[in-house]
Amino acid sequence: MSSLIEQAALRLEQLRQTGVVLPEFDGAASTAEAAIKPSQPAAPVAGPQTGGDPGAQVPLSRRVELDLDALDAAGILTPHAPRSSMADEYRVIKRPLISNALNRGAAMVTHGNLIMITSALAGEGKTYTSVNLAMSIASELDHTVMLVDADVARPSVLRILGLPPGRGLLDVLEGKADVPSVLLRTNVDKLTILPSGTPHPRATELLASDAMTTLLDELATRYPDRIIIFDSPPLLLTTESRVLATHMGQIVVVVQAGRTAQSDLMHALSTIESCPVRMMMLNKARAGGPAGYGYGYGYGYGYGKSGAADAAEAGALAESGKPA
Ligand SMILES: Nc1ncnc2c1ncn2[C@@H]1O[C@H](COP(=O)(O)OP(=O)(O)OP(=O)(O)O)[C@@H](O)[C@H]1O
Ligand SMILES: [Mg+2]
Repeated sequence: MSSLIEQAALRLEQLRQTGVVLPEFDGAASTAEAAIKPSQPAAPVAGPQTGGDPGAQVPLSRRVELDLDALDAAGILTPHAPRSSMADEYRVIKRPLISNALNRGAAMVTHGNLIMITSALAGEGKTYTSVNLAMSIASELDHTVMLVDADVARPSVLRILGLPPGRGLLDVLEGKADVPSVLLRTNVDKLTILPSGTPHPRATELLASDAMTTLLDELATRYPDRIIIFDSPPLLLTTESRVLATHMGQIVVVVQAGRTAQSDLMHALSTIESCPVRMMMLNKARAGGPAGYGYGYGYGYGYGKSGAADAAEAGALAESGKPA
């Protein structure tokens, strides 16, 4: 039996032969993405069946326009923004993430390209960090990023980016859509967005479902060179976040300066011990100095179960929070 990719490729070819116009999309990726639909094996490419209206468009991924000036004004990194201290700080944070994702780090990390952004509690800056990290990585020429809004109960990625709600992850998990039909390409060439999707009463169950496990495996292995960032629910307030964590190659735990209690952080870290790479990031730290009372970042880097910490930027945080 042929693989999903082969079937999808065949299907695309059939559609082309019937005169269907396929939207512009990078070939290999679209073929692979078309194959992903966890709840329905051997998924066909979304769109009209062979022999359908020859002029019809196949709804592969849609392109949206991000208002980069507005994002810049709102304090979100954009590819064209001049060098800023924030961009520099993200540069430091993303280096080890990228090298683990592409398995250029010290050790092979399974599913290293799946990176979860989480925190102990609500409102500590998970979404803000996810969006900025995705932008920062996508601004590099070499790396393609998919930003997934996996905070399905309280999604906010589209809102922060100034985009209207739409279909996404939950629709895929329900088997009502496939990934390419809900994936959003953006005017940041290397950045695609997988929204959380149509609100669903059992959203959190879907996130912790077998369909999600299958989807994550597919995403990790079919796009080994794509970095996939998951904006996620808080670890101490939800259980699905912990389930999600078990599938991730790397996890960034956002710590809000002056707010996240050490006991909460320790508890949160204890829930994600199965993840090989855990990193902590200090958010909303005071910049200090007479002129500076803004936001800033630090990071702590925990690698492996021993949690050996590289405390270069945020010594106290890395020390106090390093996994046991
Ligand atoms: N470093 C920062 N600089 C400026 N604003 C920030 C920063 N971090 C977070 N914020 C703002 O703080 C608020 C909460 O951040 P965010 O939504 O990212 O938190 P969250 O952890 O995702 O929350 P939730 O648990 O509700 O999903 C938002 O208004 C966000 O824009
Ligand atoms: Mg959030």
